[in-house]
Amino acid sequence: MSRWKPRRIVITAGPTREAVDPVRYLSNESSGRMGFELAKAAARQGDHVTLVAGPVCLETPEGVRRVDVVSARDMLAATRDAFRKADALIMAAAVADWRPQRKRAGKWRKKDDGSEVAFLELVRNPDILATVAKRKGSRLAVGFALETGDGLRRAKRKLQKKGVDYVVLNDESVLGSKRTTATILGVDGSRRELVDVTKSALARALVRLPLPSPAV
Ligand code: CTP
Repeated sequence: MSRWKPRRIVITAGPTREAVDPVRYLSNESSGRMGFELAKAAARQGDHVTLVAGPVCLETPEGVRRVDVVSARDMLAATRDAFRKADALIMAAAVADWRPQRKRAGKWRKKDDGSEVAFLELVRNPDILATVAKRKGSRLAVGFALETGDGLRRAKRKLQKKGVDYVVLNDESVLGSKRTTATILGVDGSRRELVDVTKSALARALVRLPLPSPAV
């Protein structure tokens, strides 16, 4: 087997938080575990890892440079910046698709609306993976797709839509669990399934993905 050539890799992990007011936010259930396992696996094989992490309660794996962020827009800036000098990106973060149109300066009080119903106006967050992958050239970019139902078709579409080399398809059983079943779809038409494996085993497989061969 040929020796591993260390790369500079950017990995994102965890949720993002979108502020409503100084004490409230919108977020999701992502634990960040998958991204941290990826960072650990990449560092162990000798890669130089920058881990862009949303708010999570996890210890930084040894040898990993960690950049903490809160919102999707912070994550975009940090990821773009780190990817400028990197060879690969794995986007495992669960980015909030929407954010409140404005963060209230003071606490949002019940009396501000004065009825039983209140509305929160949301605007779309940037798609970090699609934005950063636009400038990837021949560098490796990997995304995740968490799908319910017939995910295969949607995951294949995400390969094209986001302009990435691989999409890792998971179903909702991955949430909060230590084991998972995943299908790795390559832009070259490759397809590999890992059934009921630990997240660390999946991470080890993902950090060794080769650049897909160009379509013929
Ligand atoms: N992603 C991203 N920026 C976003 C949303 C998602 O970079 N604003 C990345 C995720 O980190 C993941 C991939 O895109 O690697 C797929 O995310 P997913 O939530 O499954 O897809 P969406 O594009 O949000 O599509 P949909 O909600 O329609 O399934």
